[in-house]
Amino acid sequence: SVSLLWTWLVGMVGLDCCLHLIILDSFTKLPHLAGSEQNFLLAKQIQGQWKEFGLDSAELVHYDVLLSYPSETQPNYISVIDDQGNEIFNTSSFEPPPQGYENVTDILPPYNAFSAQGTPEADLVYVNYGRTEDFFKLEREMGINCTGKIVIARYGKIFRGNKVKNAILAGAIGIILYSDPADYCAPGVDPYPDGWNLPGRGVQRGNVLNLNGAGDPLTPGYPAKEYTFRYKVNESVGIPKIPVHPIGYHDAEVLLHAMGGPAAPDSTWKGALNVSYNVGPGFVDSFSTRKVRMHVHTNNKVARIYNVIGIIRGAVEPDRYIILGGHRDSWVFGGIDPSTGAAVLQEVVRSFGKVKMEGWRPKRTIIFASWDAEEFGLLGSTEWAEEDNVNCMWREDNVCASFSGNYTLRVDCTPLLYKLIYNLTKEISSPDEGYENKSLYESWLEKDPAPENNSYPRINKLGSGSDFEAYFQRLGIASGRVRYTKNRKTDKFSNYPVYHTVYETFELVEKFYDPTFTKQLAIAKLRGKLVYELADSQVIPFDCRDYGEALKGYSDRIYKLAKKHEGQLETYGVSFDPLFSAVGNFSEAAAEFHRRLEQVDRKDPIAVRIMNDQLMFIERAFIDPLGLPGRKFYRHIIFAPSSHNKYAGESFPGIYDAMFDIESKTDHQGAWEEVKRQISIAAFTVQAAAETLKEVA
Ligand SMILES: *[C@@H]1O[C@H](CO)[C@@H](O)[C@H](O)[C@H]1NC(C)=O
Ligand SMILES: *[C@@H]1O[C@H](CO)[C@@H](O)[C@H](O)[C@H]1NC(C)=O
Ligand SMILES: *[C@@H]1O[C@H](CO)[C@@H](O)[C@H](O)[C@H]1NC(C)=O
Ligand SMILES: *[C@@H]1O[C@H](CO)[C@@H](O)[C@H](O)[C@H]1NC(C)=O
Ligand SMILES: *[C@@H]1O[C@H](CO)[C@@H](O)[C@H](O)[C@H]1NC(C)=O
Ligand SMILES: *[C@@H]1O[C@H](CO)[C@@H](O)[C@H](O)[C@H]1NC(C)=O
Ligand SMILES: *[C@@H]1O[C@H](CO)[C@@H](O)[C@H](O)[C@H]1NC(C)=O
Ligand SMILES: *[C@@H]1O[C@H](CO)[C@@H](O)[C@H](O)[C@H]1NC(C)=O
Ligand SMILES: *[C@@H]1O[C@H](CO)[C@@H](O)[C@H](O)[C@H]1NC(C)=O
Ligand SMILES: *[C@@H]1O[C@H](CO)[C@@H](O)[C@H](O)[C@H]1NC(C)=O
Repeated sequence: SVSLLWTWLVGMVGLDCCLHLIILDSFTKLPHLAGSEQNFLLAKQIQGQWKEFGLDSAELVHYDVLLSYPSETQPNYISVIDDQGNEIFNTSSFEPPPQGYENVTDILPPYNAFSAQGTPEADLVYVNYGRTEDFFKLEREMGINCTGKIVIARYGKIFRGNKVKNAILAGAIGIILYSDPADYCAPGVDPYPDGWNLPGRGVQRGNVLNLNGAGDPLTPGYPAKEYTFRYKVNESVGIPKIPVHPIGYHDAEVLLHAMGGPAAPDSTWKGALNVSYNVGPGFVDSFSTRKVRMHVHTNNKVARIYNVIGIIRGAVEPDRYIILGGHRDSWVFGGIDPSTGAAVLQEVVRSFGKVKMEGWRPKRTIIFASWDAEEFGLLGSTEWAEEDNVNCMWREDNVCASFSGNYTLRVDCTPLLYKLIYNLTKEISSPDEGYENKSLYESWLEKDPAPENNSYPRINKLGSGSDFEAYFQRLGIASGRVRYTKNRKTDKFSNYPVYHTVYETFELVEKFYDPTFTKQLAIAKLRGKLVYELADSQVIPFDCRDYGEALKGYSDRIYKLAKKHEGQLETYGVSFDPLFSAVGNFSEAAAEFHRRLEQVDRKDPIAVRIMNDQLMFIERAFIDPLGLPGRKFYRHIIFAPSSHNKYAGESFPGIYDAMFDIESKTDHQGAWEEVKRQISIAAFTVQAAAETLKEVA
């Protein structure tokens, strides 16, 4: 019976702590880089386990996509050169491996995947985090011209690909990325292995693409099969045209210590190194003839990647799908990213397999996915979305990890899922210290209340940076992600300090993040319950009234931004009334829909299916087939990854981008015409979504 299954699911997921440990340990013994033999073997191992667990099928699905690796013969590094061109200082080209891993082969040195090759030399300019506002400050207020310069930006705040794009727009001929202790070391914590801070020679790897949702750079929009047409690399999507290379803070201190030029404009430009944070260009005084030279020999290469796709067929509506996925590929050992995610996925699959073998089947089909090449631009999940444009109604993604801290729950999801997430977290006990008899909901609410209304815990908008992207932003499939995170009020460091370094090991998780594995267990329960509810409830547990509320909040916010230009709104006849009208109509339609839903005859399968389809298609209704301006694979009109930071979600992105920095545009009339066009697209889309909720005639 359902209640028995329920008890089982809640009680058993992850109960076998030792299996959990073994999985995490076996996933993190060796590097599992996309395109490597080790990652293929791990795919086969997972496929075998999923079959043993009792899934109806588990297949490997491959694609041939563009990946990027450092040269085996010519190391990447950065030098300071004297006026004769002699390299008088070189940055390190590898990270010292942690104890116990000294003999592991196939550890790639730190690099930025898809960097251009080259050996540019120039004066250095320090650009803070390399954000849009940082370049505005340099160019507009300080009169610093980055054309022909090499810039150095600290990691943190935004996606690294956006930093690279901004540097290219500013005219830089190379960009160095480094981790400042201000952003990658928590006060009072030791560097790994004694604590969880970033050591001085630790370096964050990562891709620097600006794909805007395209997937494989050579086959944008189409799955990268054997016969697929491939663009040349110089004609592909999103690959930067300048060299990019990452370094640690020991090396960065040497590069930054003699910087000349104006002082940092204010304290927000200063990190925690013992240097001036002068902006440059170039070095001070007697060092002024010195320059910086980059050596980048990274190669792009088409290689085969493998998703593992496991299926439990639905008993009643096998043509409706729920996907639970997470990636498998890692930069090195992947202790947190992705293995805490992959281990939880493994536990959830095991539990579902077990109940299935006892004779249960969900009403709808469940698809489990172990994605490949997430680290190279969400490639595995996007190619699969391009190939299998399935009738998914929901997808949950455990993405990178189950963790970026051990403080509280973090949820990013479509408003359709707010109620379900709140309900389910009330049924899971809190794994937090000091909350022994409380629910996950209670500890979450207390530690991270929503800014708009502190009677609810915070839920964030979906941006990108993980594998739900193609499903949500391109296809309009309701999506969400849940994980544990740090304390946003006190923990000012970026992400988690050893992110994407060789120090992300199993021991890191076991010693510092989740020694008892209870936080991963709570995440496994929540993910498992979400899948169970979505796959098996007779009526899909979406609530579109919350979408109405959210739309009201987003429209108020965008109007407030517009009102900063009140005079211009009048001059150019810009009105937000149609948008407010559509949002009001949506809320009314949503309320009316749920009134009808309460009365639907549950014994009439067609009547139930009609309303379920309306719920399923509501997210799809926000998709504009033409896409956002200049970003044709981002087609959701309500949400998109921010144009200035792929990791963050922006609401009404079309209107937001049209108004961004509008006062500095020369053609004001034309700029405001575009704002008007974007408001009308948003109003139409919201109204059209409202119409889909109405009673079928
Ligand atoms: C930097 O590396 C180059 C090339 O290997 C070498 O010629 C040079 O001597 C090195 N400089 C220092 C200071 O080690
Ligand atoms: C690494 O290899 C050396 C030499 O074979 C050996 O002495 C050492 O114990 C090995 N270390 C580990 C951690 O396996
Ligand atoms: C920056 O320098 C480049 C080349 O020296 C020049 O073409 C460009 O006009 C300069 N930009 C500004 C804003 O001064
Ligand atoms: C790209 O490179 C090919 C040679 O590999 C060349 O024929 C083509 O013109 C280049 N395209 C562009 C846009 O530069
Ligand atoms: C910081 O640098 C200055 C000059 O480079 C040096 O005199 C001082 O000892 C350094 N301070 C620390 C704490 O390392
Ligand atoms: C959440 O729980 C409430 C109270 O039990 C229930 O009325 C509501 O239908 C649930 N909503 C969802 C989406 O699960
Ligand atoms: C939790 O509840 C149990 C039983 O009701 C009680 O014995 C225990 O003291 C409670 N623990 C805390 C921390 O409140
Ligand atoms: C917050 O939510 C509660 C419960 O739904 C509601 O009663 C209250 O009015 C809301 N407060 C604000 C400021 O919106
Ligand atoms: C885990 O939680 C403990 C207790 O709150 C805290 O002291 C520790 O810093 C946290 N660890 C990490 C890696 O955030
Ligand atoms: C909202 O509904 C009203 C009443 O049906 C209608 O007059 C109005 O045009 C609708 N708004 C939009 C933007 O379509």
